Amino acid sequence: MKDITQSYYIKQKYRKTDIHLLGGNGIINVNRYYTMEEVSKHTSANDGWIIISKDGVKCVFNVTEWIPNHPGGSQILKDHLGKDATDDFEAIGHSQVVYDTLLPKYFIGFLRE
Ligand code: HEM
Repeated sequence: MKDITQSYYIKQKYRKTDIHLLGGNGIINVNRYYTMEEVSKHTSANDGWIIISKDGVKCVFNVTEWIPNHPGGSQILKDHLGKDATDDFEAIGHSQVVYDTLLPKYFIGFLRE
């Protein structure tokens, strides 16, 4: 298991942003781990999770609320639910706004490997 305190997300984003966004529940969230088996169950438009890694740390996001708003279309996001979408996500070249404001909002924890 990687030392998550070394991760970009914890240091730069979630330790501050997530706590703020969630009104104090961020600590619980950053210590939460999910198995692949658990993540793979969340594949529907009203309950959709996705994995995206940052600096080799696999992060889990509940993107349910974001699906209808995705500028790339809802279908492509639905196709990646319950899976590790890192390669396709990075291939598109998502903007810094996505990393700075959207992903922190939907972050729910880490993948247990
Ligand atoms: C939580 C996950 C995601 C978020 C928050 C997100 C967010 C966004 C945003 C904000 C844009 C507008 C362009 C930008 O600011 O970069 C965008 C475009 C796009 N996204 Fe995503 N996205 C996510 C996942 C994905 C995934 C998994 C794919 C799969 C390939 C994808 C494919 C695309 C495509 C094709 C576009 C349009 C690019 C273009 O028109 O040039 N996105 N996304």
